[in-house]
Amino acid sequence: MNATPSSNDFILQVEHLSMKFGGLVAIGDLSFQARRGEITALIGPNGAGKTTVFNCITGFYKPSEGMITLNRGDGSTYLLERLPNHEIPARAKVARTFQNIRLFSGMTLLENLLVAQHNKLMKASGYTFLGLFGFPSYRQASAESIELARHWLEKADLVDRADDPAGDLPYGAQRRLEIARAMCTGPELLCLDEPAAGLNPKESAALNELLMDIKSTGTSILLIEHDMSVVMQISDHVVVLEYGRKISDGNPQSVRTDPRVIAAYLGVDDEEVETVLTEVGDEDVIEQLDTGPDSAHGPGSSASMMAGPVSDSVEHADEGERVTVSKGASKAAQVDARAAAVASKPIVAPVAAKKPAAKTRSTKAGAKAPAAKASSISNRLDAPRGGKADSLIRIKGIGPVNERKLNEHGIFHFDQIAAWKQADIEAAEAYLAFDGRIAREDWIGQAKALAKEAAAKPATRGGRK
Ligand SMILES: Nc1ncnc2c1ncn2[C@@H]1O[C@H](COP(=O)(O)OP(=O)(O)O)[C@@H](O)[C@H]1O
Ligand SMILES: [Mg+2]
Repeated sequence: MNATPSSNDFILQVEHLSMKFGGLVAIGDLSFQARRGEITALIGPNGAGKTTVFNCITGFYKPSEGMITLNRGDGSTYLLERLPNHEIPARAKVARTFQNIRLFSGMTLLENLLVAQHNKLMKASGYTFLGLFGFPSYRQASAESIELARHWLEKADLVDRADDPAGDLPYGAQRRLEIARAMCTGPELLCLDEPAAGLNPKESAALNELLMDIKSTGTSILLIEHDMSVVMQISDHVVVLEYGRKISDGNPQSVRTDPRVIAAYLGVDDEEVETVLTEVGDEDVIEQLDTGPDSAHGPGSSASMMAGPVSDSVEHADEGERVTVSKGASKAAQVDARAAAVASKPIVAPVAAKKPAAKTRSTKAGAKAPAAKASSISNRLDAPRGGKADSLIRIKGIGPVNERKLNEHGIFHFDQIAAWKQADIEAAEAYLAFDGRIAREDWIGQAKALAKEAAAKPATRGGRK
C-alpha cells in the first residue's frame, strides 16, 4: 500500500465518501481535496457532517463508501479507510484535535506533550525497562522529545507554564496546548475540530498566529470551523457542507459570496444568522437571497461546485432517505428551488415583495425545476386572514426562509397546513424541494396542535415570537 510514488500536489483526496448511521446519511457522496502546505477549511452549520468527515479521515469511523487517500511528502500513499486506526497517526502522519478538549488535566503541560511522544520513546527503549536505566538511545530520544515539547510550548506561547497542570490553564490556552500536543507527533496533516469555539478575540488571535506558524513549517491543516472570521482570515481553500453534501468549494472570497452558503447559514440559530450576515455582510448577497439567485450564481450557470442538482440529492433519495439530519430544509437547495418556484409562477404575488421590480433578477427558467410536481396547494389564500399571518416557524422544520416561501404560495396559517391532503403536501414539497420531510417531521400534526392553541387564545394569534 505504501511507497506508491505520487507527484501529487494534494495531501488529501476524499472521493465519494458516504457515512450512514442506520437510516441516517450523515455524509453523502462527498469529494474534495486538500492541497499540500495549505489550510483547508471545512465549514457548515451544526449537524452538517464535519466531525463525521474527520472521524472517517482519522480512523474513528470506517466509512460506508468512498476512498480517502493521503499522499505523504516522501511519495508514499495511504488509503486511510483501510489502515488500522492506530497506524493513521504513526504511518500516515495524520494528527487531530477534538471538538471537546481532551487533555490530561492533572498532568503538567510538558507531561502532556511527552505522553504524545510515547510511541517514539517506547521504541527507543526497545519496549523494555531499559529506559529506566538511562540507556543511551533512550536518553537521546528522551532529550529530543523534551526539546520538541519545548519548541511547541514556545510556539503556543505556553512555555512559562510548562510545569503547571494542564487543567489550570484558561480555555484558550488549553486549546493551543492540544494543538501543540498534536504537533509533537510530527504530523504532515493536522486536523483541527473547531479550535476557535468558545475563544475570546484575544485567544482567537493567538490561535490564528499559531496556525499560521504551523503552516509555515509545511504542515498541511484541515480545519473545521464555525467562526467565519477565523476561516476568512487564515484559510487558503474552503469546502462548505450542508446536510452531508458539498454545497460550495473554492477560495474564501468566492465561498463567502456564494448565495448557497449564506442560505445554508440562514438555517442556523437566529443570533448566528446575524453574526454571519455581518461577517460576510455584503448587501448584494443578502439581496440575492431575497430576490432569488442571479445568473452568476443560479442553478443554470453556477460558478460554485455544488454537488449536483436538487433532485440528485444522495443515495436512496427515492426511499425518502435524504441527507436530512436536523430540522430545517436544505437552505442551499432552497436557493436553487427558489429559481424553480419563480419559474413555475407563484400563485399569489409574493407578500414580502419589498424589492422594486427593476431589482428583481431574472432567473433561468426552470433548468432544474421539480416541474412535474408543481401543482398548486389547494387551500391557498391571497392574503393572511385579518392581515396577520401565524408564525409558521413555530412548526419544527420550518425556518424563516421556508416561512417566507410558504407565504409566497398563499399559506399563512396553521389551520391551512393542518388541513393539507396528500396532493397539497406534494405540491408544498415541490416548492420547498423537501422530499418526504413534511410527513417525517409531522408538520400536519404540529400544525393541528398549534391551530388548536391559536383558536383557544385568539388574542395571541399570529405575529412572530
Ligand atoms: N456515531 C453516530 N451515530 C449516529 N449518528 C451520528 C453519529 N455521529 C454523528 N451522527 C449524526 O451525523 C450528523 C452529522 O454530525 P456531525 O458530523 O457531528 O456534524 P457537525 O460536526 O457538522 O456538527 C448528525 O445528525 C449527527 O447526529
Ligand atoms: Mg462537529
